[in-house]
Amino acid sequence: MTSEAKLSWQPGKRDLLFLAIVAAVITLLVLGTSERTTKAVPDDDTHRHATSRAACMSCHDSGGVRPQPAGHTKADQCFQCHAQPRGWGK
Ligand code: HEC
Ligand code: HEC
Repeated sequence: MTSEAKLSWQPGKRDLLFLAIVAAVITLLVLGTSERTTKAVPDDDTHRHATSRAACMSCHDSGGVRPQPAGHTKADQCFQCHAQPRGWGK
């Protein structure tokens, strides 16, 4: 009977540490996805009617207004990171 008691699992210090780390990682992942940290696209007439990368870049290339910073991604999907103006495309 004594051997049977040893089989039941008792969380030790290492198990609790492991669980604490897992919980911390999950918390960070959830917080990290809940908020956009990139600047939103202004909700003005210009930005509501620009519908292609080429249109955006006609103003925001390196010689333009508010140029994309050095090392900025070359990705086409601007709105994946910069929140879209509310009335965009209308
Ligand atoms: C006709 C020129 C023009 C076009 C086209 C244009 N923008 Fe802009 N954009 C500006 C100007 C001027 C500003 C800064 C003035 C302001 O904040 O309203 C600005 C500001 C921004 C900002 C915010 C910068 C900050 O400091 O807050 C982002 C992001 C941006 N534009 C992204 C885009 C994207 C994405 C597109 C294409 C869908 C685009 N722009 C098309 C002229 C343009
Ligand atoms: C992978 C994410 C991502 C994508 C996709 C992306 N950007 Fe950005 N962009 C950023 C980050 C990060 C910054 C740094 C400044 C900030 O905090 O917004 C930035 C900065 C900018 C700025 C400068 C804003 C300022 O105040 O000086 C402009 C303009 C801009 N992006 C335009 C664009 C355009 C146009 C596109 C599509 C062709 C685009 N971005 C796609 C992440 C992205």
